[in-house]
Amino acid sequence: MSLTRDFFISLSQNRLLNKGAKRWGLRLGASKVVAGTDMDSAMKTIQKLNDLGIACTLDNLGEFVVQKEEALKAKQKIIKTLHAINENQVDSHVSIKLTQIGLDIERNFCLENMRDIMDVAKELDIFINIDMEDYAHYEQTLDILKTLLNDFDNVGTVIQSYLHQAEKDILDFKGVRLRIVKGAYKENEDIALQDKNAIDKNFLKLIKTHLLNNSFTSIATHDHHIIKDIKEFVQENNISKDLFEFQMLYGFRSDLQKQLVKEGYAFCTYVPFGEDWYGYFMRRLAERPQNLNLIFKGIFS
Ligand code: FDA
Repeated sequence: MSLTRDFFISLSQNRLLNKGAKRWGLRLGASKVVAGTDMDSAMKTIQKLNDLGIACTLDNLGEFVVQKEEALKAKQKIIKTLHAINENQVDSHVSIKLTQIGLDIERNFCLENMRDIMDVAKELDIFINIDMEDYAHYEQTLDILKTLLNDFDNVGTVIQSYLHQAEKDILDFKGVRLRIVKGAYKENEDIALQDKNAIDKNFLKLIKTHLLNNSFTSIATHDHHIIKDIKEFVQENNISKDLFEFQMLYGFRSDLQKQLVKEGYAFCTYVPFGEDWYGYFMRRLAERPQNLNLIFKGIFS
């Protein structure tokens, strides 16, 4: 299991394959979990989900950008995405990875790109979530978020429960809208918990802490054990359904997504789209051996 995970995580970080995949179009079954390569497909997918009572967060896929020109192009694509959400009047916010808009080039260049995006998002009243990448980018991501929070209230980020410092950071971001996840990258034991049960325990603790601090929480998981525990917790503690939402990735556990909506919970699906699908897809394969079915179905369909 761990070998499979390490294998796919290292594939996800292979820049050459990542670049090559942009030319292949959606392959290997990625179309089951990526909503197409163009804006039209993404908007149609969101509309369908909205019709089921599901809100979305849209990710115009991209990462590993090391040239300014590419980062500026990515920024323009994100701004185009914001306008498309507004023009199509769909219920969606936007998720962004900072390496897409220049974090690996220069901090201030990335911050300026974020500011340009935030100006448009603010004007159109759209929330921006900054996805959390590997630990090498963690402190800089939180630092950029803190700077943006001085001027904008429609921005938040992700806290990964496997990190030893996650609890401290949750307390630091009291009142800020956060997505809480288990964590998708391979980190060493100095930085992150390695044991699955310990990560689950911390995950529950962090979600409960943020909720009890009266802070909006996106509970992002496909794990029905976690969801069951949180449902009981919010009921016992009289926590309003307006204070949280469940989130899952597009293409995963669609029946459970619909079931939660039926039960009256706010639900948001993470919808990735675009040519830069490779790293995202490989991380999904790393998470669960069963997700390899996607590849087999993709190859044989
Ligand atoms: P996990 O994979 O731990 O599975 C636990 C159990 O749940 C399984 O044993 C099984 O019983 C059940 N289960 C899980 N998936 C299933 C399926 N497809 N079908 C049936 N049963 C299933 N990470 C990160 O580092 N930075 C980020 O910004 C984000 N953002 C993000 C957004 C959203 C919306 C989601 C859902 C996730 C992320 N993640 C992330 C990824 C996250 O960190 C984590 O790697 C994955 O969600 C996998 O962990 P889970 O909690 O979903 O269950």
